[in-house]
Amino acid sequence: MTPDDFRAAAHAAADLVSDYLDGLPARPVWQPMDGTARAALLDAPLPAGGTALTELLAAVERDVLPYPMGNGNPRFFGWVNSAPAPAGVLATLAAAAMNPSSAGGDHADVHLERTVVRWIAELVGFPHPAGGGLLTSGTSMATIVCLAAARNRAARAAGWDVREDGLAGLPPLVGYVTGETHSCVRKAAELLGLGSRHLRTVATGPDGRLDTADLRAAIERDRAAGLLPFLVVASAGTVGTGAVDAFHPIADLCAEQGLWLHVDGAYGAFGRLDPAIAHRYAGLERADSLALDPHKWLGVPVDCGCALVRDTGELRGTFSLVPSYLRDEAAGELGWFSEYGTEQTRPFRALKVWATIAHRGRDGLARDIARCTELARHLGELVTADPELELLAEVQTSITAFRYRPAGLDEAGLDALNRELPAAVQRRGRVFVTGARLGDREMLRACLLNATTTEADLALLLAEVKSAAADLHTIYRPDTEDS
Ligand SMILES: Cc1ncc(COP(=O)(O)O)c(C=O)c1O
Repeated sequence: MTPDDFRAAAHAAADLVSDYLDGLPARPVWQPMDGTARAALLDAPLPAGGTALTELLAAVERDVLPYPMGNGNPRFFGWVNSAPAPAGVLATLAAAAMNPSSAGGDHADVHLERTVVRWIAELVGFPHPAGGGLLTSGTSMATIVCLAAARNRAARAAGWDVREDGLAGLPPLVGYVTGETHSCVRKAAELLGLGSRHLRTVATGPDGRLDTADLRAAIERDRAAGLLPFLVVASAGTVGTGAVDAFHPIADLCAEQGLWLHVDGAYGAFGRLDPAIAHRYAGLERADSLALDPHKWLGVPVDCGCALVRDTGELRGTFSLVPSYLRDEAAGELGWFSEYGTEQTRPFRALKVWATIAHRGRDGLARDIARCTELARHLGELVTADPELELLAEVQTSITAFRYRPAGLDEAGLDALNRELPAAVQRRGRVFVTGARLGDREMLRACLLNATTTEADLALLLAEVKSAAADLHTIYRPDTEDS
């Protein structure tokens, strides 16, 4: 391959990607793959010889790009997956061309990561001591990083060195979550040897927010039983309904009880940029740690999470291990990123974050986010106005939680119908929405992350839901059971 071959292929790739992105809104959002197309990917034999770049591009165009997950489309409302920010897409190519390990050292990627971590903290109003954070693969990993620091601090306070001695012999450390806390917290607790049964589920109010009185009672019970309460996990946007906890009362209780307050802001922390809902986040800055995902609401191409911590020393004290082959006299006071988390070789995530934020600027991002919350509220109004639909939660951020509720179905029938509804809507290809359980009910949740979504797209979403539901309804209607 000559440099000119690469240049020609790179130009062709740029055209291919531009055409792909351009064409997305006019295509079905998602469609099941046909068997032949799936087999072309699944059963591809290991190639013995090489393939020219031009042929590789042709294969990408034929076998890969026609079968997206759907999240680039403005009518995708599923899970918490955004369309990629164009500047981030371009930056990905340059980052791959440099291909550094952003573990540490004196090169551009490392310095840029320090800057974008500071920018992220500034965007969400979290205090940022130098070195107080790092980029991760996502919030699942950022949660492991933050909770490891919380665990080690709590153990140290009990006279225990977890790094040296492990956890055996230490009275159980207990953490507090709610029924709406994301599953990554439980995963982290299990991996960190805390045991998921030592995560207490605290009650929430009707607004989905953590009930501080119940939290206090649970802490007191555990202390009386000789256990070591150490952690509260609050949410800056739950994955189910987008609920934002009331941080001040929780932070007050954590301060009083000496507990680590961790906030899961994976999806919702950037909502603080929208003046219309910024008040909901008051007190977020008092957390000991915050995990959040630039690869969600900011649209930074996957993957990119971020762990922010108030006390840099706790993070470094938890993870720093510098074998002699990695000694670096030029590392400076803060050392290497690999001393603050689990990864040694680390990708150049910072360039796509830098490009995404710099392209829109703080104000552009704030406008995009405000547009999403406005759309979600509008969808809530459309749902409320429709007698066949039921809004299941206040729209606090940009998730609208609702269900189809035709007359004549009991709760079991409604549950069965709403459980099947998302997949039925998805198969039609015009919009994409996902479901979840909220308390004891099945619901649909539309997550608005794309500022180019229109009011017409929302109307189409509800029309599709009702049309797919009408087809399913015949199955669940009591009078059809006898026929
Ligand atoms: C509220 C919340 N927390 C945590 C996560 C996990 O984040 P990630 O998938 O980036 O690991 C998600 C993902 O959707 C989420 O919505």
